[in-house]
Order: sequence, then C-alpha cells, then structure tokens
Amino acid sequence: MDATATAAGSTDAATPFSTLIRVASHEQHTEAETSSFMSDLLGGKLSVDAYARYTEQLWFVYRALEEAAGPLADDPVAGPFIRPELMRTAELERDLAHLRGANWRAAARPLPATRAYAARITACARDWPAGYVAHHYTRYLGDLSGGQIIRDKAERTWGFARKGDGVRFYVFEDIANPAAFKRGYRELLDRVNADDLEKQRIVDECKRAFDFNGAVFRELGAEFPLSA
Ligand code: HEM
Repeated sequence: MDATATAAGSTDAATPFSTLIRVASHEQHTEAETSSFMSDLLGGKLSVDAYARYTEQLWFVYRALEEAAGPLADDPVAGPFIRPELMRTAELERDLAHLRGANWRAAARPLPATRAYAARITACARDWPAGYVAHHYTRYLGDLSGGQIIRDKAERTWGFARKGDGVRFYVFEDIANPAAFKRGYRELLDRVNADDLEKQRIVDECKRAFDFNGAVFRELGAEFPLSA
C-alpha cells in the first residue's frame, strides 16, 4: 500500500505538509484531468477558439494571483512562495495577443466561475495569506507539472511554434530544472509558517481552489460542447 495514502485527510504531525496537501487533493486532481473540457482539449478535439477562451480565463486568475505578489512579498507566511520566475501574466498577455490579436483586452470577459475564483484569490491575498498559499500551490505546482503535457498537445493540435507564442504560459524560461524547483517548493511547504490547524485550513482552501478550477472547466465545457 502507498504509505502516503494513509495520511489522507489527517494532520498527522509526522506527515510532511507537502505530502498532506498532495494526497488530500489527489482525487480532485484526477477529476480535473478527466473533466470533459480537459479531455477534449488533450484529445485534440477543440477549436483554437476554445483554447483561446481558456487562456483568457487563466489571465484573469493569474492577474489576481500576481497583483497580490508585490504586497505579499514580505509576508511571513506567503512571502517565501513569491518568486519572480513563476510570474505568468506577461506570458499570458503575449499568448493572448497571438491568439486573439492586439486588441484582445477589449473583448476579454471572465466566466462567472472565473470571476468568483479570482475574487477568492484576491480576498485571501488581502485577508488571509495562508489561504493565498493554497491558491499559489494549486496553480503554480500544477503548471510546472501537467502544464507541460498541455503545452505539447497545444503545439501539435494548433501548430504553435515549440515553446513559442500561444504556449508561453507553459514555458518557465527562468526555471532551468523544474523537478528541482518543485522539490524546493515542497520544502517551502513543509516549513510553512503555520500550526497544524492552519495547515488543515490551507488544505481545505486547496480543495476549494480545485473546485474553482472544476467550475471554470464546466463553464468552458458548456460554451464549447462537442458537436459529435
Ligand atoms: C489535463 C490536465 C492535467 C494534467 C495532464 C496534469 C498532470 C499532472 C502531473 C503528471 C502531475 C505530477 C507531477 C509530479 O509528480 O511531479 C501533476 C501535479 C499537479 N497538478 Fe496537475 N494535471 C492537470 C491538471 C491540473 C489542474 C487543472 C490543476 C489545478 C488547477 C492541477 C494541479 C496540480 C498540482 C497542484 C500538482 C502538484 C502535486 C504535488 O506534487 O504536490 N493539475 N499534474
């Protein structure tokens, strides 16, 4: 049996926090991966318009995450996680200019789920930096992992230049070794400045972050149903 599986949902002091949060969100991760929008995207079944709409939603989410980065840089809980090499807003803007043209901003609209997601990130950043850590983890560690699979698929499906405009969001130019970076990130999680109760709250917020992502996928799926 997987030793980490026994830690699911518990706050066993012996379990590293990075393991706890990964195990606790595992089921929702599988749901996200297998959501119909993601499956259709990875199956090469969606139009480039659907991909652009998804990228636009990410822009609203990362703007919320990264507008908070400056104010939180010295925060004792969230501060250590704020790293310039993770920032994605500029890359998303370049991708959107490529996908939608120079005037993409004029037509950019958050889906209701995206609006709620971004508002929650902003509220955490303002009132509860430990909650912000949950959102930071859910997005950036995911982008450094499964994001690479999505990039590869997008390049093949819509013909973007490898690691070029359209998929820059997935390319972390300043992270030479993503596996090492993720190890370092997990060490930061293990040392997070929070007691066991607060850690459990962070895990709960991480689950909420996955719920928001699931809701965005559902709304995207409704907007881009497959005609088949
Ligand atoms: C089709 C879509 C996705 C694929 C193929 C995918 C794939 C992966 C893979 C292979 C890993 C493991 C990396 C490793 O062990 O180092 C991973 C980790 C992760 N993914 Fe995803 N993922 C997808 C969607 C998502 C979504 C939508 C989210 C949340 C917004 C997410 C959040 C995460 C997180 C937080 C981790 C890090 C887990 C940890 O090690 O603590 N993923 N993903």
